[in-house]
Amino acid sequence: MKTIELKELLMDMSVLEKIGQLVQFSGEFFESQDVTYGPQQKLGISQEIVDLAGSVLNVTGAETTRKIQMNQMAKQPHHIPMLFMSDIIYGYKTIYPNPLGLGATWNPELVAQACEMAAKEAAASGNHVTFAPMVDVIHDARWGRCLESPGEDPILNSSIAQAMVYGFQKNLSTGSGQIACLKHFAAYGGVEAGREYNTVDMSMSNLFQNYLPPYKAAIDAGCKMIMTSLSSLNGIPCTADSWLLKDILREKWGFDGVIISDYAAIRELVSHGVAIDNKEASLKALMAGVDIDMQSSCYSNELESLVTDGILDEDKITEAAWKVLKLKNELGLFENPFYGASKKLEDKNILSQENRKLARNLCEESLVLLKNDNNVLPLDITKKIALLGPYADCQDMLGMWAVHADNSKTVTLKDGIKKYLGSNLNCTKGVDLVDDIKYLQGMWDFTSEEVQDILSASKNNASEMNVALTLAKESDYVVIAVGEQSKESGEAASKTNLHLSDSQIELIDKVHKLNKKIVLIVISGRPLVLEDILEKVDALLYAWFPGTEAGDAIANILFGKVSPSGRLSISFPRNEGQLPIYYSQLPTGRPANSNSARFTSRYIDSQLDPLFPFGYGLSYSEVRYKDVQLSKATYSVDEELEIQITLVNEGVKSVKEVIQVYFNDPVASLSQPVKRLVAFKKVKVDAQKQYKLIISIPSYKLKFFNNKGDAVFEKGTFNIYVGRNVHDCIKLSCEYI
Ligand code: BGC
Repeated sequence: MKTIELKELLMDMSVLEKIGQLVQFSGEFFESQDVTYGPQQKLGISQEIVDLAGSVLNVTGAETTRKIQMNQMAKQPHHIPMLFMSDIIYGYKTIYPNPLGLGATWNPELVAQACEMAAKEAAASGNHVTFAPMVDVIHDARWGRCLESPGEDPILNSSIAQAMVYGFQKNLSTGSGQIACLKHFAAYGGVEAGREYNTVDMSMSNLFQNYLPPYKAAIDAGCKMIMTSLSSLNGIPCTADSWLLKDILREKWGFDGVIISDYAAIRELVSHGVAIDNKEASLKALMAGVDIDMQSSCYSNELESLVTDGILDEDKITEAAWKVLKLKNELGLFENPFYGASKKLEDKNILSQENRKLARNLCEESLVLLKNDNNVLPLDITKKIALLGPYADCQDMLGMWAVHADNSKTVTLKDGIKKYLGSNLNCTKGVDLVDDIKYLQGMWDFTSEEVQDILSASKNNASEMNVALTLAKESDYVVIAVGEQSKESGEAASKTNLHLSDSQIELIDKVHKLNKKIVLIVISGRPLVLEDILEKVDALLYAWFPGTEAGDAIANILFGKVSPSGRLSISFPRNEGQLPIYYSQLPTGRPANSNSARFTSRYIDSQLDPLFPFGYGLSYSEVRYKDVQLSKATYSVDEELEIQITLVNEGVKSVKEVIQVYFNDPVASLSQPVKRLVAFKKVKVDAQKQYKLIISIPSYKLKFFNNKGDAVFEKGTFNIYVGRNVHDCIKLSCEYI
């Protein structure tokens, strides 16, 4: 539709019709025929506003979306199509690893391809907007939403954020893309004590330097929608924060897309204690710049009377409705309200061999080898191998946010390993993921069948364990696959205990006592505390929630078809007491390595450093860094700093190395982090080969943010660190004059 026609449409709409464009409800509102007792009654809203609603949440399927779209358009005076929005966080039906795994790939190009694939699948099912990327920087593994974020670093998160936006939105014009809705704005990852929905309080410098860059990067990449955070920032709930939404997002960053609240976040302004009732909450949110109210009765029930009472200018509603209409028009919905929805395309594209292959490649690159004593991996197929543990033969490996996927499509570890070993593989569960039924029931509303299934080994504990130990005794190597139950990570899954369950630890202990070589695979949505079991295993492979192709990807790594190339995008704590933990800390006046043993910044009962640092991960050949040098000792501000690097692979396997470049500004007007990632590159180095490259860094990347939120560059000495992880680097220095 031409802009002028769209404007005419807007001018012709009643206030209530425009309000309709600003509300979003879940699918049950549209599928239900029952007006009196339906979900709208629960929320206290009228059928009239449901019929005028401009968007719907988490409904997919070509046939369903087409039907709902047709019905809804027929009811509306101007027959305006709805937007279908869903959580396609790490795949729609073909699931790739959860975002911590995406971060661990350090491969934005591959991530972009995966998002493009997910967008095609979702578009065929009639979806238009995905609530991704989630790019909240995280420092605390207690927070269950670690699962959804690429990691702890603003530069890595920015790069993954851009790749995701690019991938999702690449094919928008051909009916096979998805509008990316960035979230959760802003700094949700900084919730105190890792507790879900909790407060965020931080300095401006910290906010601008460490938390805001990934959102900004996504917006610079053209992201068309953004979701507010459920949390408050420095005392103001983000959904009512006009400084954040207007001054920063719209004015400073030039964002002109649509702002949507998170689920019921407008109503929650009352619980946050900044609004007396839903009316005030609605006024505050709209005035702060929130265009769409997700799943609350605020905008639908309050905005009209705010206008008639003369409190709210109708223009504010018109402005917000205009943004929503513009977005619909950009998708071409006025010409084709069904967008990409097609049963034929669903059948053809979803879970195709091509999509599975991409998910497999991405999964392979996301797996992080954390220990490999005496090169126990790759495994020798001629040996006798037992596969034990609750994830040995389990399809529920997709994690909480794979909400549209079907576990039954997942390749299990047993299936993957069998492709190498055939009938030589012995496999049993031994123990369950969770020991405690009360914990399980408090975690999620599981059906009784699900509970039975999750606790199937405990019913029969002693004999299950015995079978497992018998298999272990008969084998040369034991692969044990353990981790978190899929609902133990994700939204509202904050935990204070990050250890494996007792029975999983017991299984590892008992197999260890048999003197067997143990390869431990951990599947989880966050870093777990593994220090105690580390010495009991020979190899440790971290797999996140690995997705649909889990079994094949993990087997390809275990048997050496592919060399591991994942690197941690988050520091692994030794214990929960170290949290929050992240590498880019500010120096203290008394660093732990200074002379006085006691009066330094340390713990008296724990080491200070993480169990595994940011950027860490092993491969099957170690790559040596040779002749690493800067092109000059002194640079002027308008010159690019150049680092020459030669990588040497002296091993027998081709590998991918992630070169990481960090810097530190040792003397500045504001204390600066001990290290900050500034560039990275993943490169393939063939066996017995060298690879030379130059990494260039413009000086603006060495700026820091002050407490006014301004980026400043202060000349002087800079330390540059080049290496394979944040702790294992070659140090160089230069001057900026
Ligand atoms: C979550 C969002 C999600 C939304 C819609 C909320 O509870 O915080 O991340 O996109 O629900 O499902």
